[in-house]
Parts: sequence; C-alpha cells; structure tokens
Amino acid sequence: MGDYRILVLPGDGIGPEVTAEGVRALQTVGARFGHTFELSEDLVGGAAIDAHGTALRQETIDAARLADAVLWGAVGGPQWDDPRGSVRPEQAILGIRAALGLWANLRPVRVDAALVGNSTLRPEVLAGVDIVVIRELTSGVYFGKPQERRTIEGRREAVDTMYYNETEVARVAHLGFQLARGRRGRLASVDKANVLDTSRLWREVVMEIRPQYPDVTYENVLVDAMAMHLIRRPAAFDVVITENLFGDILTDEASMLAGSLGMLPSASLRAGAGEATGLGLYEPIHGSAPDIAGQGIANPIGMLRCVALLLRHSLGLEAEAAAVEAAVGATIESGLRTADIAASGERPVSTREMADAVLGRISG
Ligand code: IPM
Ligand code: MG
Repeated sequence: MGDYRILVLPGDGIGPEVTAEGVRALQTVGARFGHTFELSEDLVGGAAIDAHGTALRQETIDAARLADAVLWGAVGGPQWDDPRGSVRPEQAILGIRAALGLWANLRPVRVDAALVGNSTLRPEVLAGVDIVVIRELTSGVYFGKPQERRTIEGRREAVDTMYYNETEVARVAHLGFQLARGRRGRLASVDKANVLDTSRLWREVVMEIRPQYPDVTYENVLVDAMAMHLIRRPAAFDVVITENLFGDILTDEASMLAGSLGMLPSASLRAGAGEATGLGLYEPIHGSAPDIAGQGIANPIGMLRCVALLLRHSLGLEAEAAAVEAAVGATIESGLRTADIAASGERPVSTREMADAVLGRISG
C-alpha cells in the first residue's frame, strides 16, 4: 500500500486533461522525495450521469472518506445543462462538499509578477496582491431549506433559504483570524448586514470572537462595497472571510486579478483552526470549459497549484508543496504561456508542454 491514498475525480470537459497533469505531478513528487501515492479514480459529474444516472455515487463518497485527499477536476457541460433536469453535474461537487463536511474553502489569489500585463487592470493596482479568501462552503443559501419550486394558485414561484447558525460562522471566523495571524495580520469579514439577518448574525459572532485576536487588524466590509474594493485596491486585503454565495461571486471576480481563471487553485477543508487538516478536496477554480475541452490547450497551472495545496494541507508535506510552487513560479518566469495567458503574437504552449516544463523543474 502507498504512503498516501489519493482519490482522483477528473469529471468533465477539461477536467480530465488537467487532472492527468496533476497526477503526473504527484508521481514526480513521489519519485523525487521517496513517497508512494496510491491513486484511485472514479467518475463524477456529467461523466457519472452518463455511466450511472447520477452525478455522485455513494461508492465515490465512501472512497473519499477513506482517502487522505481528493483531487478534483471540474464538472459540467452543455449536454447536461437542462436547468429543469433532476440530475445535474453540479450536484456532484455540492454533494461531496456536504457529504464530507468540507466547510472551509480556501481560495488564494496571488498575482504572478510576470503576468501583471495579463489582467485588465493597471499594473500599479496589482502590485503586491496576495489575498486568501475563506469561503464558507456547506451552508448559506446553497443548502438552506426550503429550496424548491412550486405552483400556488396557478402561478410558478421558487424559494431559496439563506441559513446560518453561530457554530458555522464561528469556525470560519477562527480560521480567518488564525490564518491572518500567520500572514500580514489583516482580516476582512464580508457580509450584507444592512439587509440580511444571516449577515447580522455573522457579523455579531465574528465581533464576539475578535477580542481573542487583538493582534489582527479587523474590518467589516459590505459585499457590494467589497466588489468595488477588489478591483480598486486589491492589494489592501490579506485574509477575507465570507459566506457561501458571496464567496462564490467574489472569488470569480478576484481571479481576474491574476489574469486567468486557469491559474488558481482551491482547497476545501473541514478542520478547525489549530487542528490537523486531514482530508481535503482540491480543485482548480476554473470550470470544465467545454469550448476548449479535448484540445490539449487548457492551462494546467491551477491544477498543479492544487497538488501543492494537497501536499501541504492534507499530507503535511511542506517541502514537497514548496517544490511544486517554485517549479510553477519558475516556469511562468521563463516565459512559457498557455493560450489563456499568452500575449498576442506569443506562441502558446499546450497543456502537456506547460506541465512538462513544471515537472522537469520538480525533478530537479
Ligand atoms: C465554484 C462553482 C460551484 C459553486 C458550482 C459549479 C456549483 O462555481 O466552485 O465556485 O457555485 O460553488
Ligand atoms: Mg464559482
């Protein structure tokens, strides 16, 4: 048996192409540092719907529970897009987050100096951007009940419910304060407390916890204002905590600071502040990109950075994680560009060429 058990769930679209490079990165790390990774693979999302009639099987959840970490590609595609359909690929990612209790979604946004020209924002706005968003991942309007469509007196209506309890808020707050402590000591909590009761509870609970972290500079920011600050003065933020839906929206916005969705990883964890991280799920923040799937041109860097996060958080292999991150950084510095980050006139490299360059640097 290997030292570490990794469940690999490639999913749909470009998911399998980038995940294949993540697997090669793990194998390369194993060869260099003397670890064996026992890899198993399963279908999720649209691929699982086609094969099994459901986006996420119980067997897959059971396998995830026995693993040390889950590496996730992406799910979704136009062929499964019927919004009225009862099975949808997205049920796989929402289902596994809920089943494994992965309540903390860490989304680091850092701008590679060599890529500042790629963003639609001016370089001087991007200098020094280094944010970690902690998005609450298993509650809020994504999971609150009732969530349904119904017809009342012949008229169609729908309801979603935003729900939070203090336990759910407190664990995110503690994680945020502790993470900020190990970084630049700044925490912003994003809510809509001028309108929503869930946000007023969120703010109240975070403010109660705040005195335990007098060394952290703290601010409350309304989500609409945060949307503005993120493109106006992104370098002012360090750690940001927010609820599920706000985090979903703000992290897509924040990803544009880095020039391409293809560059960024995420980690979904379930350990509280100060606890050993244990099982986590690692997925690039990009989607399945069906428009470019199968062409071998997707950017593998988000996935390779996920491998680094997996090594660091779930396996506690810091030197290995740092080696992957350094290899990615050096490859970007060297000028290699996939199509999404190539300047006009620059010859873009393929998924495989980019990954090969990174793996070559990991091997040393
Ligand atoms: C994300 C995605 C998912 C979400 C979708 C695919 C359900 O947008 O991980 O940000 O909304 O959480
Ligand atoms: Mg999203």
